[in-house]
Order: sequence, then structure tokens, then C-alpha cells
Amino acid sequence: MSGEHTPGRRDTVSPPASFVEQANVSPSNSVVDAESHAVWERAAELLTWETPPDQPLPDDDTVEWYADGTLNAAANCLDRHLETRKNRVAIRWEGADGDTRLYTYLDLHREVNEAAAALRELGVETGDVVTCYLPVIPELVVTMLACARIGALHNVVFAGFSADELATRLDRTESGYLVTCDGYYRRGSAVNQLTTADTARMSVDHDVEPVVVGRLDDDAVYLGEEHRRYETLLDAHRNETVEPVSRAATDPLFVIYTSGTTGEPSRVTHTTGGYLAHVAWTGHSVLDIKPDDTHWCAADVAWITGHSYMVYAPLALGATTLLYEGAPDQPEKDRMWQLVERHRVDTFYTASTAVRAFMKWGETHPESHNLSSLRLLGMVGEPIDPRTWNWHRNHVGGGDTPVVDTWWQTETGGILVSTLPGVDDMKPGSAGPALPGVDIAVIDEEGEPVAPGESGYLAVTSPWPGMSQSLAAEASGANADDWYYVTSDRAVIDEDGYVTFLGREDDTVTVGNTAFGPATLESAIIDVNGVAEAAVVEANERGGTALAYVCTKHGKSGDEQLRDRIEHHVSERLGPTARFGAIVFIPELPKTHSGKIMRRLLGAIADGDSYGDTSALRNPETVGEIETVTRDE
Ligand code: WTA
Repeated sequence: MSGEHTPGRRDTVSPPASFVEQANVSPSNSVVDAESHAVWERAAELLTWETPPDQPLPDDDTVEWYADGTLNAAANCLDRHLETRKNRVAIRWEGADGDTRLYTYLDLHREVNEAAAALRELGVETGDVVTCYLPVIPELVVTMLACARIGALHNVVFAGFSADELATRLDRTESGYLVTCDGYYRRGSAVNQLTTADTARMSVDHDVEPVVVGRLDDDAVYLGEEHRRYETLLDAHRNETVEPVSRAATDPLFVIYTSGTTGEPSRVTHTTGGYLAHVAWTGHSVLDIKPDDTHWCAADVAWITGHSYMVYAPLALGATTLLYEGAPDQPEKDRMWQLVERHRVDTFYTASTAVRAFMKWGETHPESHNLSSLRLLGMVGEPIDPRTWNWHRNHVGGGDTPVVDTWWQTETGGILVSTLPGVDDMKPGSAGPALPGVDIAVIDEEGEPVAPGESGYLAVTSPWPGMSQSLAAEASGANADDWYYVTSDRAVIDEDGYVTFLGREDDTVTVGNTAFGPATLESAIIDVNGVAEAAVVEANERGGTALAYVCTKHGKSGDEQLRDRIEHHVSERLGPTARFGAIVFIPELPKTHSGKIMRRLLGAIADGDSYGDTSALRNPETVGEIETVTRDE
């Protein structure tokens, strides 16, 4: 693949000295250049173990992280903080309707214990799977930690998923318990969640016991005899405590399904010790979370980003985690900045596609708020182009806040590629090097490493603690030296070891004889003044040309002049072969619930193909208009 480009040396940005001085990990820290063994030992030291592990990995070839260690994840997120910080706020919650709730560590500990006792009363045993079908409300975190306390596995299903999707996940996990709610508020109106939950429950072959959290203000949703009220169940166990169940580090902590951007969701199981050590360590070293911080990961708890960096990392580190139930533009497009200002957020982690939406809405929104509390900005989920990166740093980060572009996946459990904000220079548009202790390579179809600057597939070439149970099993079965994990992400590594992500393999676009990662073409388009977001897809039915879908700033429709400027800029940047069959202006890109652009759907629209499974789509209402403008092009 040629035509790809990576940020050059001249684009390098150093972290400010004031940040480096206070960073959890800075150049003076011995772990920066340490062998992986020492890094993952250090990660384990962030946790409180009942039996501390002897070493990260056994001497033989098996890949079992911290194999001889035992611990409990809920005790790490709660009990160990009580002695010194019981009155510290653990959860600050703000609802879609503007309600707020605070939980100190003591409050959270109490409610998790009561919920654990309640789950036990229902018959939940160690190893059972408890499905949670809840929006971002504190009871979701309470239930997750209550499961962890008694060694049950949580299986969180996104609250906006349909009855079918919930049923599939109940069925595949043989989950006998469902914690849901009467309803919740979405964009100002109440959604009846219980009916959907019941439809799913009825459609599976096994019995599922329903527990219902009261989220709506009135009793609009009727509870039947079979429904157990969460509040009543907890009332029956007021102030009870449940001993945390001792778990082997390799015991499962939870199951989660991948977000399904490209197809069938698949099940991923994460371990107790390896996963928790990995997310605590990366929360500490990459997101620079400190116990006195308010950390805001603006995602849904249901995605892996939410599990790792809304729940487990900030709570294991004793910080305050901000949970926001609502939409980023409700009631107004400055909602996010209002929250940052009101809650004095220190570290703000969000999807890169969300940042492109902020840029589209305009800088007046962040600039009308005092965002001086922000110390670090983090992004995840899709490649980020340099222009958006700089916009974020300047208009949200006040011009000098470090930005980390973090690459990882549901399967990896936690961050694997990113700059360390207190150590590394940043290169806008490139995620950064592999973290200390992580080994990566860019390989070709045959599995051979390519030269620096050449593109290929990103592979992780040795095990890491947050790896899923099935990856660990696969690595154990192979000769450890030969094992590597190939992702379907295309990437280039530069001579400094920095990785630039080009997009997923399935989304590769061939123009003329040149194959481009979508990110390369999209980044060049977004560079053009007036453009906010772009997605490029291959249109086979149009002679194999590429179609560029473009959203302008403020959502206005583009004109001929903008079209010309885009064409001109892209061919100047990427060469004369980089031409589009058409540039189509649309108000919004189709995105999944977790914020990824659904390029597959755009490709199907361009080709007039059937759309396949679009249940992961967040804004299906945009499809009609995209069809119309595509046809007219
Ligand atoms: C993509 C989300 C470029 C990538 C944590 C990966 C990224 C998939 C980045 C995993 C990034 C995530 N730069 N691409 N910083 N972060 N991705 O499982 O394609 O929902 O394979 O996990 O998101 O998505 P998942």
C-alpha cells in the first residue's frame, strides 16, 4: 500500500514542563525503559492482593497472568479506600433530566454490599452470569461491583439495544438474572425499558429472574408479580455486609460483546487480576488519574471503554468518576462543557468521533465555559486527524493540555498504544508508541514485519495482562515466542516507533491502483477549512471509484467551491490518483451507538446493496437522506 503518510518530526509537540512535573509517570520513572516483566510487576503493585502473585507470568510457556495471585475486584475498588478516603466522592452522577447524585466511597461500599446480599438471596452463585440492561445510572455500577464481590460475572447490555439483541445475549450467556429498570429518559422523553426487557426474557428458553430499578419519577410502568424491585430487595438487606469472595487472578470478572461495527457481535471474557492490573496501570500512566481527580470518561458503561475507564480504573485508583446519562447536545450543544465546568473535571476521555462533532458544532461552545480544570485530554475509538487533534487541544485544552490518542480494543481490555503524557512527545494524528511492556509490529499478509513507513496490519507480538481469556488460552497453546495477535487494523510505524492508524482492513479504499486506509483520505478532507467530518468508501457499482461523504461545519450543505477545494487539497496531499467518484454532502455520518462511523453502511448505500445488520446504528433517521443525496450524485 502506498500513498500513506505519517506525521513528520516538525509536527512534534512536547508536553509542558508543568505537566511532566506532576505526572504519575515521568522520564525519571524507572518503569519507562524497563523490561516488560518489571512493568507488569509495577502494574500489579497498584492493586491490593489477598495473595500477592510471585511474578507476572509463570516460568513455563503458559500465559496465565499473575497466576498464583488472589484478589477481589470490588474490594480493590471499594474496601481498600475506606480507611483513608471513605468520605471522598466515588461517583458523581448527572442524569439526562439534570438530576444529580453523589456517592462517597462509603455510600458505594454500603450499597454494593446490600446489592451483593440481594443477589445472593436471589440465588446468584459464584460463576453465574448476571445480565444488566440499564442506562448510565449509579445502580449499574453498583450491580457490576456487587457481582464482582460475590464472584458472579456481569454481562452489561447497552440500554438502547432491542429485545432481540438482549435475548441473544441472555441466551448465549445462559444468564438466569436480569437487572433492568422501569424506564429512563432519552432526549427529554421517558422510554419504557421494562416492556423490552420482558419481551427478551420471554423469548429465551431458560428462566430469567428480573430485578427492576425504579428510574422514572412516577409509577407509569406497571410491575408484575414476577418483577423484584431493586429498592425493596436492598431494603431487606440494609447495612448487611458480604465478604468479598476470593478470586484467582485468572478467574473471569465479566463477559462483554464486541460492538459489532462490522458484523456479528462476539463474546469476550476478561479476567480478574490481569484485566484489573492492566486498566489500573493504564489509568495511572496514560490517563494520569490521581486519587484527588474527577475523571470523566464520556462513554456508555456498556462498552469496554466504559467498563475499563468509567468504572474499574478510576475506582481502583480511588478517584471520582463522573457518570453522565444524557446526550452531548441536550439541551444545548455546550452540555459537555457545562459538565466539565460544574464538576471541575481533571481528566477527560472521549471518542474521537465525538471530538469531531464538537468541532462541527463550533468553538463558541467550549469557549463560553471555564475549562481550566482540565489537565489531560484522551481520545479513543477511531483514528484522529491532526486538524481535529489540534482543535481539541486549543479550544478545549486551552492550548497546552496534553492529548493522548489511545488505541485498544474490547479484546485487549485496556490501552496498548499511546504516548505516556508525562514522558513522550505527541505527534498529532499518530497514536504514539506501544506502551512500556507492550510489543507490537506491523506485518504483511504473510506475517512478516514490514519496513518502517510501510503499511500493514498491526500485530501485538507478546502477551499483555488485559488480554481476553480466549487470547490467553490461544497464546498458552502456542509456543510463546511464536504467538502474536493480528488485529484487523491497518497501520504504519514511523522511525520513532509511533503508530499511525489508517482504519480497519474491511474499510480499505482502492482508488486507481492505490489502496488507502480510509483515515488517510478522510484526514486530508478534514484538513480543508469548513469541513467537519468525512467518511470515504469504495463504490463498486460506480466503477470502483471512491465516494467521499462530507459533513460541513455547522451542518450546512457544501457548495461547488468547497468541492473544488477538497479535490484540490486531497490530490495535492496524496497525489493525482487520490480522486473521488463523487463528493456527497450530508448533514450527519451514520454512527454506531459507541460512536464509530458505519462505513460498511455507506458502502452499501453507494452500491445499492442490502444493508445487513444495522442494529448497532445510533442515528437510523439519517439513512433516508443519505440515500437520496447519493442517488442524486
Ligand atoms: C478502533 C474500543 C485508531 C480500531 C476501545 C480498533 C482506534 C477498534 C483507536 C476497537 C485509536 C480504537 N486510533 N483506531 N486510538 N482506538 N480504534 O472493540 O479499529 O469498540 O480495532 O474498543 O476501534 O473497538 P472496540
